[in-house]
Amino acid sequence: MIEDTRVLNIVKALRQVILPERGSVALHEPTFEGNEWDYVKECLDTGWVSSVGKFVDRFESQLAEFTGVKYVVAVANGTAALHICLKLAGVENGDEVIIPALTFIATANAVCYCGAIPHMADSDFNTLGLDPYKLRGYLEDIAEIRQDGCYNRQTGRKIKAVVPMHTFGHPVDLDPLVELCQEYKLALIEDAAESLGSYYKGRHTGNFGKLAALSFNGNKVITTGGGGAILTNDESLGKLAKHLTTTAKVPHKWAFNHDQIGYNYRMPNINAALGCAQLEQLPSFLKIKRALAENYRAVFQGMDHVKFFGEPSFAQSNYWLNALLLDEESAELRDPILSETNDLGIMTRPVWTLMSKLPMFGECPKMDLTVAESIEHRLINIPSGVAIG
Ligand SMILES: Cc1ncc(COP(=O)(O)O)c(C=O)c1O
Repeated sequence: MIEDTRVLNIVKALRQVILPERGSVALHEPTFEGNEWDYVKECLDTGWVSSVGKFVDRFESQLAEFTGVKYVVAVANGTAALHICLKLAGVENGDEVIIPALTFIATANAVCYCGAIPHMADSDFNTLGLDPYKLRGYLEDIAEIRQDGCYNRQTGRKIKAVVPMHTFGHPVDLDPLVELCQEYKLALIEDAAESLGSYYKGRHTGNFGKLAALSFNGNKVITTGGGGAILTNDESLGKLAKHLTTTAKVPHKWAFNHDQIGYNYRMPNINAALGCAQLEQLPSFLKIKRALAENYRAVFQGMDHVKFFGEPSFAQSNYWLNALLLDEESAELRDPILSETNDLGIMTRPVWTLMSKLPMFGECPKMDLTVAESIEHRLINIPSGVAIG
């Protein structure tokens, strides 16, 4: 039994939003209250369950309309989407790709699938995502711009791309990052896996780089069971993304011709059917999630030792996963809070272990990660699903 009144106060505040009669609450469970059953049944009734079908086309065009991105390719998951984004941005064996150290493992894994090396960058306290100003200072120190791109003077390798990630749905500060990437000849790829429904200065995330990736995993704002999407405003990249993710098959009535090594990354029609139904509810999900965030903000307002993490001033966030940030002096409360809340059936989680601390990335190049380290040991994610809003 935990006696610390600071812990008890935080649990009490959570209990004002998550009432005990709700029982156990997950971090982000999906909600299926629209046309999910009808659309999935249609797939089963017609036999169109697999890699082609009208729901895939519909899901792609509805996503394009919602995000304002011109070309959308639905794929098997967000990691596959990131992999293809990096390939299409020209990331090759031996290149370096700048990613935030504070991200989900998929960002780093996708870089490695291309034979490239993740290069870890620090976070911004204001967004939890990549800090473009600190990155600029760092590149000024270590990078050299040549005719054919940007090079790391310390390793001799080419730095090909930057992959900012919109943490928990909060957009990073994109304007200075876009400018930096242009100046340093770096491809910008947004890991927008968590930010469907999030806007930077009024424009949907996923519109700011060469390409972007979304995820529709079961814990995301909307889900297709498992799924992802590649977004781009470049027509030729959009066409190539479709081609590469569908085994690079050359269209023909019957012949099996493939013009390069492609990937079987298609989203099945049955998953897209779920996605179409979910997408119809997205505007209402987003409203509910904003209201839930507002409730959390209100109960944690003015509380010592902890603050509710709100969207940056330039952004409208989808508040995918709500987060509490303990003060530096109260960081030792993180584990007692995690323990107490999980014992009560309120699912809470720490943030991901920094990529730079994982054994397979220990030798990867990195900048000073003071901010990411500080966030890592004092952040707690709290229940955020639509069902509790
Ligand atoms: C930041 C980030 N990138 C990539 C992914 C990968 O998506 P998926 O699980 O659909 O492969 C996720 C989520 O799972 C994520 O949170």
